[in-house]
Amino acid sequence: MNVRKVIDSDIERLLEIEKENFPDPWTKEMFLNTSADIYILLNAEEIVGYIEVMLVIDELHINNIAISDQYKGSGASKYLYDEVIKKYGKIIGVTLEVRSGNYRAIKFYEKLGFEKYGLRKNYYTNPKEDALIMWNYAKGESK
Ligand SMILES: CC(C)(COP(=O)(O)OP(=O)(O)OC[C@H]1O[C@@H](n2cnc3c(N)ncnc32)[C@H](O)[C@@H]1OP(=O)(O)O)[C@@H](O)C(=O)NCCC(=O)NCCS
Repeated sequence: MNVRKVIDSDIERLLEIEKENFPDPWTKEMFLNTSADIYILLNAEEIVGYIEVMLVIDELHINNIAISDQYKGSGASKYLYDEVIKKYGKIIGVTLEVRSGNYRAIKFYEKLGFEKYGLRKNYYTNPKEDALIMWNYAKGESK
């Protein structure tokens, strides 16, 4: 497995991964216009997942992470997270928002060392849902 920054020609494959995972997938324009950093996970030449992060002073915000179905449960997501965290040396922690009903993702984040810190009521639409705010203050390092 290998991790690198996204380039424009990767985006078609990211759109497929988006469609596999989300009812309201990102469009090509959203990927091209984001000011966040996107890293992709490769198995040989195949793109199997991605993570979108934004450094806000000394906090790293995870905007999104998604893995292709056949790589779920394989440890690939943790590998992607760990490799990307290493690139941001001086952070005080990592934070994210997640749908309160996205049990698999919440379990995944808890395994990495994230804890629940708050709730944003009705943060998500389509469908309407609260967001859990989670933090990993151990410089983002996973357990
Ligand atoms: C969130 C995501 C990146 C996690 O990657 P993953 O490879 O699924 O993570 P893991 O295999 O470590 O699974 C995490 C936990 O989910 C649970 N889980 C496993 N299979 C599951 C299933 N079929 N259904 C529900 N939960 C399941 C397990 O408790 C697992 O922990 P365990 O290893 O102790 O059993 C991935 O599931 C994904 O791409 N989800 C869709 C996109 C998404 O929701 N992203 C998050 C946006 S905030």
